Amino acid sequence: MKILVVGGAGYIGSRLIPELVRAGHEIVVVDQLWFGNYLPAAVRVVQQDSLSLRADFMRGFDAVIFLAGLSNDPMAEYSPHLNFIANASAPAHAAYLAKHAGVKRFIYADSCSVYGFTDGEEIDENYAPRGVYPYSISKLQGGLGALQLIDRNFSVICLRQGTLSGFSPRMRFDLFINTMYMKAVTENKITVNNPAIWRPLLAISDAVEAYLKALEAPLGINGVFNVASANFQVGEAADKVKDYFGRKHGAEVKLEINNTPDIRNYRVSNKKAKEVLGINFQGSVENVLEELDKCLGKNFNFDQDRFYNIKIFKKLFKE
Ligand SMILES: NC(=O)c1ccc[n+]([C@@H]2O[C@H](COP(=O)([O-])OP(=O)(O)OC[C@H]3O[C@@H](n4cnc5c(N)ncnc54)[C@H](O)[C@@H]3O)[C@@H](O)[C@H]2O)c1
Repeated sequence: MKILVVGGAGYIGSRLIPELVRAGHEIVVVDQLWFGNYLPAAVRVVQQDSLSLRADFMRGFDAVIFLAGLSNDPMAEYSPHLNFIANASAPAHAAYLAKHAGVKRFIYADSCSVYGFTDGEEIDENYAPRGVYPYSISKLQGGLGALQLIDRNFSVICLRQGTLSGFSPRMRFDLFINTMYMKAVTENKITVNNPAIWRPLLAISDAVEAYLKALEAPLGINGVFNVASANFQVGEAADKVKDYFGRKHGAEVKLEINNTPDIRNYRVSNKKAKEVLGINFQGSVENVLEELDKCLGKNFNFDQDRFYNIKIFKKLFKE
């Protein structure tokens, strides 16, 4: 397939695209390159804001994968106006162009953060999202803008992802288990803001499989799919990281437990993604940590701004 990946130079794209190339797909990336470019040299990368694309550019692609945007709450809170443009308008605009250019499938990087603060019962895709902060509102709006374009010639799949973790050539340490790993290595201490909060973990290896399965799915398949490897309470996840460092590295990692209120709390069912898309979720805290050990090696320098989205974002958009 010929696939356009918008926002493909980010954390997810930099791990996904080598797999798409290996699977024989022809890839073009459009990305503003906020965090640099760690993609294989053979991949064509166009440095551009997706909002400046025209339908002509999309002609000839079989699928568009939309990964672009402000990808966490701190970025969205820092600049709500940029957030609503990038996360609510830009995906709808790209889906609109794709449909008019004759692209058959649009895959959107949705987020479970749209669910907001729930009572912690396991929820499926029918649960009415109740996120009330800029990131969660805008991620929902971006997906809705694309979903309303579905017809017999245009398929839209929203992969409603849990919080990712694991290795990518464009690394992030501002994500769930990746942050705990970085803190355990650099400070021998993990700070848990609220141990009772539920979070679905999505191992990046499972995320890659989800995008591959969404591309392969028959064109009649549309809609929202929760994608999560497993749900954890944050305190439970921190215990697992502490145990791992004790067992594998003989390190005594301390846990600092606070009871800070959180804006998100949700536990999601991945049943629909398993049954309809055929995703075989295999990620766990343990295998994410093993992957980080293997790919980062010893003496890794965690102290680089590009690993922490908000640091780069504040430099780029000082005003
Ligand atoms: N990482 C997670 O845990 C997670 C969880 C749920 C959902 N998501 C969603 O998945 C997507 C990808 O996440 P990520 O972790 O790879 O993010 P990332 O921040 O690493 O990458 C985002 C990329 O988008 C690019 N970009 C931003 N606005 C653009 C625009 N208008 N035009 C072109 N390029 C633009 C940036 O330059 C960057 O390379 C995001 O939309 C995010 O909201 C991520």
